[in-house]
Amino acid sequence: KKPVIFITRKIPEAVLDPYRKSFELLMWDEEETPVPRDVLLQEAKGADGVLCLLTEKIDREFFDTAGSLKVVANMAVGFDNIDTEAAKEKGVVVTNTPDVLTETTADLAFALLMAAARRIVEASDYIREGKWEHWSPYMLAGSDVHGKTIGIVGMGRIGEAVARRAKGFGMSIIYHNRSRKVDAEKELDAKYKDFNSLLEEADFVVCLTPLTNETRNMFSEDTFKRMKDSAVFVNVSRGGTVDEEALYHAVEREEIAAAGLDVFQNEPICADHPLVQLKNVVCLPHIGSSSTETRTKMLELCLDNLKAVFNDEPPITPV
Ligand code: GLV
Ligand code: GLV
Repeated sequence: KKPVIFITRKIPEAVLDPYRKSFELLMWDEEETPVPRDVLLQEAKGADGVLCLLTEKIDREFFDTAGSLKVVANMAVGFDNIDTEAAKEKGVVVTNTPDVLTETTADLAFALLMAAARRIVEASDYIREGKWEHWSPYMLAGSDVHGKTIGIVGMGRIGEAVARRAKGFGMSIIYHNRSRKVDAEKELDAKYKDFNSLLEEADFVVCLTPLTNETRNMFSEDTFKRMKDSAVFVNVSRGGTVDEEALYHAVEREEIAAAGLDVFQNEPICADHPLVQLKNVVCLPHIGSSSTETRTKMLELCLDNLKAVFNDEPPITPV
């Protein structure tokens, strides 16, 4: 009998088809709406494996409900939506999707950095709103990226990929991380800094650290006060790392110059969210890894992880 896999969102048949001979695949049949909680719990009861997204809360209640579950494959590199402690106690394997999304997410981080620095979205809106009547010397003048210092907080795979882009743009690189990254220091001339020194020295502060109990709200009122008033803050990790009210006030009071945000405390956010009202804040709907190619690779990695577990092989990317 084939293992039963419940997939929490509608996935294209072309991606699933090669896996149909290995699994019996059940799926929440909507592309855009997350699976309701009661359906998730009900389906988990009969499933041997679950492929889920970061929108699902895979908590202790979930693991208590799930009967014969062996593995949860999370379609994300971050897994703060999963109670890994409870999973461990129940003997359920958890996997994520590192590596395949590294370059794509670094591209987006850099796009956001440049958009915030050069006021790209505001400038595009300027034309759409019919405001471009003259050309003038300082019209929509932003700040330079080349020759500036980027401060990367969380120097993991994506952090290093952002650093490589920064080097190409002629930036100096400083970073903060739990451990030193000797290779990045050698290859990219990246300099390790304690958190406060990084905040004080960086022109661009880019948050790429996973959300944990230690990093929750690590960007606070005090943090933004330490940054230069010309600083641009970019967040491509998780909204939970930022005190959003503090960020709002820091931008509004011009304690920092701009921000680029791909993630928020409570997603999705609406058009009336305070940060969306600030013209020097670029807000994106959590699309860091969203290229067609990479999203397909992430789904395939989830399915390959599930296959490995049911073939009694080690999972490819366990957390
Ligand atoms: C997306 O945010 C991810 O963690 O992959
Ligand atoms: C701008 O378009 C310039 O030619 O300097």
